[in-house]
Amino acid sequence: MKKWDLTVNVAGVKFPNPVIAASGVYGFGEYYTDLYPPSLMGGISCKGLTINKRVGNPPPRVAETPAGMLNSVGLQNPGIDVFIKTHLPRLKKEANVIIANIAGDTPQDYAEIACRLDETDVDMLELNISCPNVKKGGAAWGISTEGASLVTKTVRAVTKKPLMVKLTPNVTDITEIAKAVENEGADAVSLINTLLGMRIDIKTRRPILHRNVGGLSGPAVFPIAVRMVWQVANAVNIDVVGMGGINSAEDAVEMMLAGAKAVQIGTAIISDPLAPLKIIGGLEHYMDINGMKRIAEISGTVRPH
Ligand code: SIN
Repeated sequence: MKKWDLTVNVAGVKFPNPVIAASGVYGFGEYYTDLYPPSLMGGISCKGLTINKRVGNPPPRVAETPAGMLNSVGLQNPGIDVFIKTHLPRLKKEANVIIANIAGDTPQDYAEIACRLDETDVDMLELNISCPNVKKGGAAWGISTEGASLVTKTVRAVTKKPLMVKLTPNVTDITEIAKAVENEGADAVSLINTLLGMRIDIKTRRPILHRNVGGLSGPAVFPIAVRMVWQVANAVNIDVVGMGGINSAEDAVEMMLAGAKAVQIGTAIISDPLAPLKIIGGLEHYMDINGMKRIAEISGTVRPH
């Protein structure tokens, strides 16, 4: 028997530990299996899937920033059918919880993808209504309670899979969006996706990113993510998964204290592919020095002043 119980439950799905690879940084696991088995992580949120293949935005589509990065990938992915036929069977053998992150131009696009995934081994759906890098769809749905409700309701009607909705921080009050998707049957919310940012090359006087603006992630956004997770966890009764600049076990603990049941690791994996394993090891150390048995106990236990 293991000394520490790292298991967590999100939306009725049991994860062996609370550390999940965030969508977009881990592909479908294919680039990392030589380094370590994906089964060491609690789960994987796959790259955002659309009905048809997307080549993504023209380059440059990443830019460095102090303590972070901007991306404007544009939902590059092979399309839902290739995922189901090629990637999912392999992932099923290699990974624990498999989360399919899905995106579309219209609510019907999201529903069609959800329908196709309903008959598969995917464990959970993550509705991406927060991608800031596409002309149609993406964050356009996530910035209003009406849009967020409509996509959630349309997908909820066609799937029995546990449904998590990934929220954008680019709104005035994220708790209103979280409450709206909870009311339409979401089982969990994940947050935060990236913050809209921009960089300009002072020699050429042109924006660095081809699409001018992109999503900021990395340690720079961490305090904003903690604040939003804390606000949302206090506003809804469904589970919250926290992400945004988590770089260490201490960050993961902080995010869980704010109210997250589990955490997703994004940009940290780009600079250090072993980051998830270091965070899991660090959580065990934290439990050891604090005499804890179950990591799930810490969620939402931040104390008032
Ligand atoms: C992208 O593919 O542009 C990033 C995905 C996202 O921010 O949701």
